[in-house]
Amino acid sequence: MVKTLEWTDDGVRFIDQRKLPTEESFVTCATYEEVAEAIRNMTVRGAPAIGVAAAMGIALGMRDAEGDHAGELRRRLDEICDTMGETRPTAVNLFWAIERMRRRFDEISESTPAQIRQALILEAQRMYVEDIAACEAMGRHGAALLPSSGGVLTHCNAGALATCGYGTALGVIRSAVESGKKLHVFADETRPFLQGSRLTAWELMKDGIPTTVISDNMAGAMMRLGKICAVVVGADRIAANGDVANKIGTYTVAVLAKEHAIPFYVAAPFSSIDLATPTGAQIPIEQRSAREVTHISGKQIVPDGVKVENPAFDVTPARLVTAIITERGVAQPTYAESLQKLAG
Ligand code: MRU
Repeated sequence: MVKTLEWTDDGVRFIDQRKLPTEESFVTCATYEEVAEAIRNMTVRGAPAIGVAAAMGIALGMRDAEGDHAGELRRRLDEICDTMGETRPTAVNLFWAIERMRRRFDEISESTPAQIRQALILEAQRMYVEDIAACEAMGRHGAALLPSSGGVLTHCNAGALATCGYGTALGVIRSAVESGKKLHVFADETRPFLQGSRLTAWELMKDGIPTTVISDNMAGAMMRLGKICAVVVGADRIAANGDVANKIGTYTVAVLAKEHAIPFYVAAPFSSIDLATPTGAQIPIEQRSAREVTHISGKQIVPDGVKVENPAFDVTPARLVTAIITERGVAQPTYAESLQKLAG
């Protein structure tokens, strides 16, 4: 399995997702500022991967932080967490990870600085291991929902590259294929950043899972032709009522799925579920640079001066979501109750 990110003695190592699929190269971030920049510029992306990357960045910053008492270290932690929190606003996993690192600090703040530093490194490493286990559990829960054969559409990349390994939506597909189901994946290319054509197709080709890339505007036609039996996507944040923020274009796919009576599944770990946010209307949507839309591979594709919008995410209302697959089980509508119940 591809190593999306890993803790090393030299820093946090990422596969550079901006270079895929034509170049497999790695970057090592030696400081927490470099980790924050890697999240911002999408060297690493995908909600669960962003969360664990931020935790490792915090651990790295604290490892190198000067200070010989807890008060000084606490001030440093606050600065580092603020920097991490300003990288990308939509994926709640980022804020979940920051809170978890803060909590761990509070638990051990009476310990020596060396013990605090070590405990934070261990916490980030624990989150890494837990993320892979959560993906595998989602895979087990979700595989049963997919048909024994046929086409499954996915949008963006919710695979090993978006997590610490195995993936959420792609984890469900991987698990179904491992259990003997004969699936064919349709990967939306996912303009403008092309996570589907560059990353999802790359991962699935490596695994030998049959895959067809389509441009985003082909999804409806493929459904109408009967080529798609189910849709599985990931999530960047799920509100308490089950509204789902995910990569721009997900909402369009959900509407199309409803029209064609195709089940629309969302696979996400509990670190993506934000019970403190009542509905999708309160989820902050990241606006990215116009250049992602105006240029492809450095080549300008729109006239000079034209207006451009580039929201990175949209919100799919809960009523369009057939089920939400988590590591704790599958939530069915009504999500306000089922998510709360799974949360325990
Ligand atoms: O902008 P990105 O590439 O970070 O957006 C990623 C997505 O929208 C994914 O679908 C989502 O994070 C789920 S990843 C398991």
